[in-house]
Amino acid sequence: MSAGFNAEDLGRARAVPAFHPSPASDRTAPFGTPERPLPLIIDSDPGLDDALAIGLACASPELRLLAVTTVGGNADVAHCTENALRLLHAYGRDDVPVAEGAAGALLGDVVRATDVHGLSGVGNAQLPEAPNSPRPEGAIALMAQLISDSPEPVCIAPIGPLTNIALLLRLYPRLAPRVEHVCLMGGSIGEGNTTAAAEFNILADPEAADVVFRSGLPITMMGLDVTHQALLDRRSAQQLRTLGTRSGAIAAELTEFALERNLGWSGSTTSAVHDAVTIAHLLVPDLVTVARYHVAVETGHGPARGRTVCDGLPNRLRRRGFEANADVGILIDRDRFVRLLLYAYARLP
Ligand code: RIB
Ligand code: CA
Repeated sequence: MSAGFNAEDLGRARAVPAFHPSPASDRTAPFGTPERPLPLIIDSDPGLDDALAIGLACASPELRLLAVTTVGGNADVAHCTENALRLLHAYGRDDVPVAEGAAGALLGDVVRATDVHGLSGVGNAQLPEAPNSPRPEGAIALMAQLISDSPEPVCIAPIGPLTNIALLLRLYPRLAPRVEHVCLMGGSIGEGNTTAAAEFNILADPEAADVVFRSGLPITMMGLDVTHQALLDRRSAQQLRTLGTRSGAIAAELTEFALERNLGWSGSTTSAVHDAVTIAHLLVPDLVTVARYHVAVETGHGPARGRTVCDGLPNRLRRRGFEANADVGILIDRDRFVRLLLYAYARLP
């Protein structure tokens, strides 16, 4: 029997999909401290919210940001790479190498979100030119080299389509034990955003996501269920602008672009900073609540393509012979999250 709902308790609720209310579980992801910063690679498709995730990472002594690698997603990969270089320069982190990865999915059509992020991937922002160029070896080789050279296992925060991570696992399978944790933004327990079934990062490359979720790597999935709680609004955009810094102005401009878009689309007055939830989770031990799920990816070509099927119901898992393979984000303290972002940006130039 599923948990079920007492309809009278819901008052005049809108449609409430049936789902199993999984209990919170202990996190399996590590978190960094200034004394022991986590070695981290961010794989990204900058991207409005990617930009804030990268800024949060750059400003946090709890993380040792080894590289930002790029993947085609929100915008074409060339735009994403240029945006990564320019964002790191703006944040005062020219020390962090950038390398370009896959332009598109392993299989299937190219999926973009330029209607969401603008053709450039960063709205109308004119980011200052960067002095650096992308590393010639490319994203997969750079990730492999960094993971191989690191004295300790490395965390990866994929915040775009998972193409590069799948390629890393296929080209360098022996490095898998040196990946400490994959804390990704993608998927959802419930509905998607790009389609009713699928969230953008997973839909953009379902086959790659399938490789990652089947890999056996320790995974935390920050899906829409929790990232839609990580909201900025006009007040927080103003607070970023009031910092009076270049980084604050960039974050404010990107946030204002997203707020204008959402207001026009749906009358919403907030914007979800999806990607930054992955970074926040690696910084703060008790900010995000997670639950254990078996996550499988639909790679068919029907209406559910790219859906993350999340099963947390114990007796069903037993009956199907499945075990949970991921921590899935279910709750975040929005006020603490916004304060974390603002304090981080206050430390950037
Ligand atoms: O669905 C949200 C995700 O898609 C975020 O990573 C955003 O940057 C877009 O890539
Ligand atoms: Ca992204």
